[in-house]
Amino acid sequence: MNEKSQVIETKIDEIVSELTLEEKVRMIHADGFFKSGDVKRLGIPAVYTSDGPCGVRCEFNNDNWFPIGTDDDFVSYLPSNSAIATTWNKELAYESGKTLGEEARGRSKDMILAPGINIKRDPRCGRNFEYMSEDPCVISEMAVPLVKGIQENDVSACVKHFAVNNQETNRMGVDTLVDDRTLREIYLKGFEAVVKKAGCLSVMGGYNKFRGEFCCENKILLNKILRDEWQFDGIIVSDWGGVHSTVGTAESELDLEMSVTPDFDNYFFANPLLEAVKKGEVKEELIDKKVKNILRVMMNIKMIGEEKDNRKPGAYNTPEHRTAALKVAEESIVLLKNENNVLPLNKKEIKKIAVIGANADTRHSFGGGSAEIKALYEIAPLIGLKMYLGGNTEVKYAKGYHVPGKALNATESWQASSTETGNDDMLDYPYLKLTKPGQFAKENEVLFAEALEIAKDADAVIFVGGLDHNYDIEGADRRDMALPYDQDLIIEKLLDLRPDTVIVLNAGSPVEMPWLNKANTLVYNYYAGMENGTAIAKVLFGDVNPSGKLSESIPYRYEDTVTCKNQEFGRKEYVEYKEGIFYGYRYYEKEGVDVAFPFGYGKSYTTFEYSDLKVCNSCSGACKDTGCDSNIEVTLTVKNTGDVEGKEVVQIYVGENNPTVERPVKELKGFEKISLKAGESKEVKVQISKESLGFYDVDLNSFVTNNGDYTVYVCASSNDVRLKTTVTV
Ligand code: BGC
Repeated sequence: MNEKSQVIETKIDEIVSELTLEEKVRMIHADGFFKSGDVKRLGIPAVYTSDGPCGVRCEFNNDNWFPIGTDDDFVSYLPSNSAIATTWNKELAYESGKTLGEEARGRSKDMILAPGINIKRDPRCGRNFEYMSEDPCVISEMAVPLVKGIQENDVSACVKHFAVNNQETNRMGVDTLVDDRTLREIYLKGFEAVVKKAGCLSVMGGYNKFRGEFCCENKILLNKILRDEWQFDGIIVSDWGGVHSTVGTAESELDLEMSVTPDFDNYFFANPLLEAVKKGEVKEELIDKKVKNILRVMMNIKMIGEEKDNRKPGAYNTPEHRTAALKVAEESIVLLKNENNVLPLNKKEIKKIAVIGANADTRHSFGGGSAEIKALYEIAPLIGLKMYLGGNTEVKYAKGYHVPGKALNATESWQASSTETGNDDMLDYPYLKLTKPGQFAKENEVLFAEALEIAKDADAVIFVGGLDHNYDIEGADRRDMALPYDQDLIIEKLLDLRPDTVIVLNAGSPVEMPWLNKANTLVYNYYAGMENGTAIAKVLFGDVNPSGKLSESIPYRYEDTVTCKNQEFGRKEYVEYKEGIFYGYRYYEKEGVDVAFPFGYGKSYTTFEYSDLKVCNSCSGACKDTGCDSNIEVTLTVKNTGDVEGKEVVQIYVGENNPTVERPVKELKGFEKISLKAGESKEVKVQISKESLGFYDVDLNSFVTNNGDYTVYVCASSNDVRLKTTVTV
């Protein structure tokens, strides 16, 4: 422990010695829906928290789930984690974090309940839009700078939901059964990275169970792994309503109980805990330890202590935040198909545009569950296109298909009953408006005709559809992977009439596209925040060259996924991750399953050539001068061979040639995004540690990197290998 930490620990001990048991218990449970208990007598403030990943959520009343309703809590609506991840740009991840942290502090929050870094294991998970990727390397590489960016503002990030929280179906009770190797190699990697490399100050326990014990009191996850192995000394906070016992949870490493009911004194960590301590069922030292963890974070973010007066004030709704949101949105857009070079559209030649589809004119910010945002503004694609094109271009709009109106009325709040069971089948979810195929056939007949009419003689046709927060939603999983609202029907009709229709799909997850062969052009757009419409217009018209890459695979059909094949997703009682580490691209590659679009895929308006691969496997060798402290350095040259400037994501995958346990053909181990002018070449270096090449040895209970040969693949996507070589470790 260094001198500064020693001083802090001494101070914390002093404070704890002055607190009464009642005061300590007060500090470790909620005293409002988004705040912990304070101790005014000693000047200890409450910890003010707020969701969430897409910006700072609106202000709620302390003890009911209705917004206060003043206008001072409009905020920047920032790109979702799924959008940040498809940029594959670590600097933008940092900037996103910086923006979110600054907004949080600007709204006087101490802890922002973000980012969500669970693995996108199955395309149907309702919260996938809040998560980054199917791959732990993408998550780790992007979440670390994001968390650092947040915390530079004297605000705690709170990574969630720890751990193996990968479905919404019966989210309050489902038992998740995952073997040790899969847990370590896949599901814990991102959390380990943010704790160890970003110094994340807070972790939120999941709602689900892991091996029979709730995550919020799980001794393996919280005590053994998080505290003992990773030495985490920040706050472990429960998900809202995720605590189910007093003694068991007190004995776990959980520090702070939060929930959704206003009976704060009756929380497990309130009066029942006080009684348990008095009866000798729980040792007071356990409470002390929890209080210390909270005080340590308070010191760190300057809520208390000598540096209190130097705490950063933050700021919200600044022009810089809008610029940051726009940059991320621009780089998050993934161009999946562009046959016949339909894109970019030519601004000068196009005088008449047909824009079709409900998502062209939908604002998504106030939806999705706890990720909802009261956006200062949100530029949807239709207004974005009109703002971009100006008055000399005629833009006609048709909704194209029927979307039922909002189901939630002003006297209801989804969160008040969010811990009650019964919401686990989407169709029973009272706050959603879902449709069954053909249900609105009559309405659609009219809407289809209107759409085809405007498409007929337009110079360009842009369809903007996909999912919305009736489907990308907390608390329920999608029942299938199909596009809702009979969109497939109108897309087919449009493509028959206008094969040059530009299809833009907004979604937080993959969808099935039965019409894919007919489409020339396809753009995938994750929830990209307040400037999404601006970004879409700039990409479609070529002001911005698309550079997003998928951070998940898009299978053709749900049946192609391993979780569907083994029927291990969306069950209520328990789910067993029978596929182990072979899911996503690790599975498709192993089994030779063809996918619609592979992990890491994304097109550009230019082309790139890769050459001159060199791998140095000992940093005492050729790369000594670079200051690289990892053990393997991959060097190559990328040339922009087209005639416009563009950005490329160079992806390095590695596979062990003679593994001693079954391993994926290759796994992502590092990546770099570079920008190249037309004709320009650049040298790219990616550093990989030998450690990261290892597998989790279940007999030794640790990661092991075998000596031997490994193949290094330099790729433009998981199935587009541009260069490869062997390295001996
Ligand atoms: C969600 C969390 C969120 C919390 C507070 C829960 O329903 O699972 O992600 O941070 O509510 O709103």
